[in-house]
Amino acid sequence: VFLGVDVGTSGTKTLAMQEDGTILASATEEYPLYSPHPGWSEQNPEDWWQATIKSIRKVLKTGKIKAADVKGIGLSGQMHGSVFLNKKYEVIRPALLWNDQRTAAECAEIEQRAGGRKKLIKLVANPALTGFTAPKILWLRNHEPKHFDKTVQVLLPKDYIRFRLTGEFATEVSDASGTLLLDVKQRNWSRPLLSKLELDDSLLPDVYESEDVSGHLTADAAGLLGLSKGVAVVGGGGDQAAGAVGNGIVKKGVISATMGTSGVVFAHSDEVQIDPEGRVHTFCHAVRDKWHVMGVVLSAGGSLQWYRNQLCEQQVAEAKRKKVDPYELISAQAEQAPPGSEGLFFLPYLTGERTPHADPDARAAWIGLSLRHGRSHLGRAVMEGATYAMRDSLEIIKELNIPVREIRLSGGGARSPFWRQLQADIYGQKVVTINAEEGPAYGVALLAAAGTGAYKDVVEACSSTIRVVQSTSVNSKAKGIYNKAYPVFQGLYSSLKEDFP
Ligand code: XUL
Repeated sequence: VFLGVDVGTSGTKTLAMQEDGTILASATEEYPLYSPHPGWSEQNPEDWWQATIKSIRKVLKTGKIKAADVKGIGLSGQMHGSVFLNKKYEVIRPALLWNDQRTAAECAEIEQRAGGRKKLIKLVANPALTGFTAPKILWLRNHEPKHFDKTVQVLLPKDYIRFRLTGEFATEVSDASGTLLLDVKQRNWSRPLLSKLELDDSLLPDVYESEDVSGHLTADAAGLLGLSKGVAVVGGGGDQAAGAVGNGIVKKGVISATMGTSGVVFAHSDEVQIDPEGRVHTFCHAVRDKWHVMGVVLSAGGSLQWYRNQLCEQQVAEAKRKKVDPYELISAQAEQAPPGSEGLFFLPYLTGERTPHADPDARAAWIGLSLRHGRSHLGRAVMEGATYAMRDSLEIIKELNIPVREIRLSGGGARSPFWRQLQADIYGQKVVTINAEEGPAYGVALLAAAGTGAYKDVVEACSSTIRVVQSTSVNSKAKGIYNKAYPVFQGLYSSLKEDFP
């Protein structure tokens, strides 16, 4: 039995997986998120640790697994967050999270110290974004120097949990890529950038490959968790790379399109492929010596969620009465409008946008409304707009010469047949879904299985457990309509960007 632990933003999920991939039990423990100032986003690392203990104990309590059978643990988590430790290895202040927006000035400082955006991309494969870890470290130095002076170690969220489990300071390549301090090509810390930023490399943990064992459960941790001392803990992965492993995205040509609140298009790549414009992220993959390219749409499913909350009271009430999912009724209504929503567009930038615009100030809009348009058009346009935004990432991936042979859908956008069809037609190719729907915790359980010898490697672990179960072909008429509409969608951001309030 292998455990996957995912330290997410809303809670920590632990999943127990049998060697053949069967899920035996899972449990989630939630915790709060704090925003002491607008744009700030913080959590207490101790909350993650308590939730880890509780969720592991809950899984044991189901009686579906025996503690003595647990052979390995894999860790995943929200990426980019910063845990600052003092010399007693205590947490100095709450961790700054991936969605914290306070570091615009530090991003500019990093670019300037690196000798410009192009040089920075050369060193670490990515431009400076406010969510990444390096600007958070500089923010601490600039704004809380007393805290910075006491800091001896900076850890990513899941790696803080690793420290509590094993007593080791370690990370792995996929999550380390999101710090902006990793030489993504060499898969180790970028000494040149650290020196330009005047950061001591002793602040950072050792870097492992994702399936390598980074340490073993200490007696103390084992006692708290109800597990045996000495269980191997493998590197694991940042939540995106780990989620991709859980979807079997471990081979050239296989891409995933995941519509959760945010939307992520994730492509495996055998070589480092860097977008010179920095529109997509290039990170190490959780597969040994492989990489991935990823585009992030901040409000994909989030746009439909907003639409449901603000404008679909009637369907929400009806769904409650009928005991069905309100999204089923919203989809059914959207389906009444024809592909292309008769000229109505929705820009899904409710929370700004990452890919391709990297613009926190971008805003959402319906454009092209006429008397002809009704509720069904409004809803369909939201779904189409979120999907065009995903296509933006897909197009960049293709521009980088990464083959796109199979698109695997997951998240809320994979559940409705209507949205699956809409995605096939807008992406312009067949889309498929797979048997697993457990995300990052499943991916790191597979990494733990591979890393402790149950499989040759994670690629074999995936091919032994993950299968395509369903496929949706393109409707060529709808594809033609979307191909004409997509350039219009692309042009709307450029026309409007100067005028976003
Ligand atoms: C990835 C990203 C998010 C976080 C939180 O770049 O910002 O996926 O990892 O889930």
